[in-house]
Amino acid sequence: MFEQLSRLPDDPILGVMTAFRADPSPDKVDLGVGVYRDLAGHTPVLDCVRRAEREVVAAQTTKSYVAPAGRAEFNEAVTELVLGAGHPAVRDGRVTTVQAPGGCGALRVGAELIRIAAPGTVVRVSDPTWGNHLPLLGSSGLRLERYPYYDPDSHRLRFDALCESLERAAAGDVVLLHACCHNPTGSDLSAPQWREVFGIVARRRLLPFLDLAYQGFGGGVVADAAAVRQAAETLPEGLIAVSFSKNLGLYRERVGALIAFAGDPARAAAIRSQVLQIGRSIYSMPPDHGAAIAAHILRDPGLTAAWLAELDDMRLRIESMRSLLAAQLGAAWSGADFEFLRTQRGMFSLLGATPAQVERLRQEHHVYMTGDGRMNLAGVMPQNVGYLARAIAAVLRG
Ligand code: LMR
Repeated sequence: MFEQLSRLPDDPILGVMTAFRADPSPDKVDLGVGVYRDLAGHTPVLDCVRRAEREVVAAQTTKSYVAPAGRAEFNEAVTELVLGAGHPAVRDGRVTTVQAPGGCGALRVGAELIRIAAPGTVVRVSDPTWGNHLPLLGSSGLRLERYPYYDPDSHRLRFDALCESLERAAAGDVVLLHACCHNPTGSDLSAPQWREVFGIVARRRLLPFLDLAYQGFGGGVVADAAAVRQAAETLPEGLIAVSFSKNLGLYRERVGALIAFAGDPARAAAIRSQVLQIGRSIYSMPPDHGAAIAAHILRDPGLTAAWLAELDDMRLRIESMRSLLAAQLGAAWSGADFEFLRTQRGMFSLLGATPAQVERLRQEHHVYMTGDGRMNLAGVMPQNVGYLARAIAAVLRG
């Protein structure tokens, strides 16, 4: 049977991780996979996670199944973190939250839910978008189309084109939106732009699917949730995929959730039953360990405060590296304008390099980024930024 199968190319993001690890150069710089790095280039286990993990393990008496929806206390805490205490949609019983295996699991379960509700639905994704959005959503049988989002030459949003494109969408189309820290561009909508987009979504009767993978990395946990809170308050229906990979550093534990808001409590209950059935048919139940840690942190005010302080530190380190790289690039290449690095937010920005330039950066300078020129700014450190800026200037200047 398997003679028919051909070998697939490496994943465009995870393949960079493998190539970086295999490079013996002491100068190598990793701007590839989206993980946070500290000043030593290490992706740490957060202190709050270490403390919570000790307490969770000490209190654990069984490894028996939890539940198809995961931990109830996790789902409650996530709903409050994402939508805020006392959100009107929660008060009205219109919200249901189900634990998922990471943000990817939430996206895929959401896609399956949409396919069951309306097979053949078109999902509109930003151009560009995170590479894994396409297989995660497309493999469930949904049709994907792109809406204009970002101009890589001017490093600006294409907001008018975005709105025109959504105005032409058919009722029932799904719009995938990055709630904050857009991956790969780092360019987010402003508050008035979100209002305008949600106005179109409501008028055209589109379904918003919000991907919230970087809450806390843009402007803090509350500011970064503004768009999802507004969507759940002003729109009748929508989905939110939540990930704790980055903001709790729980990458390999696969901790996430799918939040759905619906027209009324009966609809929310119907959605929940479908989501549980989808999960049962793919992975039966979500993994528990990371969710137990996350719930423990979110339910303990002391641990929550410690987490928020660590999250602020991560965000501020990335912001300072954005400024430092922009300054060093300015010094290495006079006349070049990299100011966009300072104003964009979250882990990523697009350098504006061609695939051939990305390859030269890798081969000649041991600088690793994804083929589209996406840089993870958490890979920039005071000790490598000068080398990195000179390498980029040398390759981009031609
Ligand atoms: C990324 O965008 O690099 C991360 O979200 C990791 C991944 O799975 O692609």
